[in-house]
Amino acid sequence: MAMTGLTGKPWSAPGVVPEEVRFPRGMLGLEERQMLFYLTRVAYRGEGYVVDAGAYAGASAYCLAAGLARSPHSEARFARVHSYDLFRALDQYVADAITKDFKPIGIGGDYFDVFEFQTGHYRERIHAHPGDFLEHAPPDGPIEILFIDVAKTQTLNSHLVRNFLPRLIPGRSLIVQQDYYHAWHPFTQVTMEILRDHVEVLDPLIANQSRLYRLTSAPPPDLIAEIAEYAYPAEKLLATLDSAIERDAGLTRAMLEVTKLWQLVLLNRFDDSNNLIARLRARPDFDGKQLWCRQTEQIAENVSARLKKPQLAAS
Ligand SMILES: C[S@@+](CC[C@H](N)C(=O)[O-])C[C@H]1O[C@@H](n2cnc3c(N)ncnc32)[C@H](O)[C@@H]1O
Repeated sequence: MAMTGLTGKPWSAPGVVPEEVRFPRGMLGLEERQMLFYLTRVAYRGEGYVVDAGAYAGASAYCLAAGLARSPHSEARFARVHSYDLFRALDQYVADAITKDFKPIGIGGDYFDVFEFQTGHYRERIHAHPGDFLEHAPPDGPIEILFIDVAKTQTLNSHLVRNFLPRLIPGRSLIVQQDYYHAWHPFTQVTMEILRDHVEVLDPLIANQSRLYRLTSAPPPDLIAEIAEYAYPAEKLLATLDSAIERDAGLTRAMLEVTKLWQLVLLNRFDDSNNLIARLRARPDFDGKQLWCRQTEQIAENVSARLKKPQLAAS
């Protein structure tokens, strides 16, 4: 089913999205902010909740809530943004980011006050769920928009697939995979490829890293359980990534190849990794500057470092 209305980047047209989406500091690009606003402002039908899975300092929550506030369905029963996050600095990267933009904080420090400050204007529309995502259930009802920016480990991805995906509305719900366009979480691309008969891609790349889908049909419970268990053998993981590569084009196809490269490294297949690095570097569009080229070089360094480490003697 080809859907119209969300293809062709309507959120990027001048005047469509207010400048206020630039206001909150956070980890999203401008186009991602515009897209989130547009989804709740224009595409939302009031049939389910809006889930902001991975809220950090509130930029995604702000954009989703700002759009919702202007939606014709803003008074619908489910018209709420449910934001999930630890709201604690998980690592030095987050601690440094909060320190730079808001207040001094160390690893483990609480920054829920920052989230509340940044999203205060729309506080009536946002329900925050602080704490470990693994311990949270989805909101009690259908989910119409699922923004995923928390699935940073395979365990988190499994929790999301097992508990949140079954709440989506076939033919209606929208899914944003914020980590699609980088190589570091191959389980994201594997998950979406295994779900391919149940989703359609509405926008393959929303800068900086997102991909937008619509759920077209309900994945059967045994498929959800299989993905959540994620007990796939190496050959299945690689074949699934090959299938995703085959069906893609351009920049995102190149990044899927780099994702496969990282999957090969995770499987300790260093000869195959080196062969793929050589093939990627030989491409005429390999300029060393685009994200997929830079990540190829990062992975190449990683492979060299691993190969230089003394091997453990066999017992
Ligand atoms: C890339 S950031 C989200 C950025 C955010 N969407 C924005 O608009 O700026 C990813 C978030 O995932 C959260 N996170 C990682 N593991 C988590 C867990 N186990 N439970 C809850 N949140 C987690 C981190 O705290 C971090 O804020």
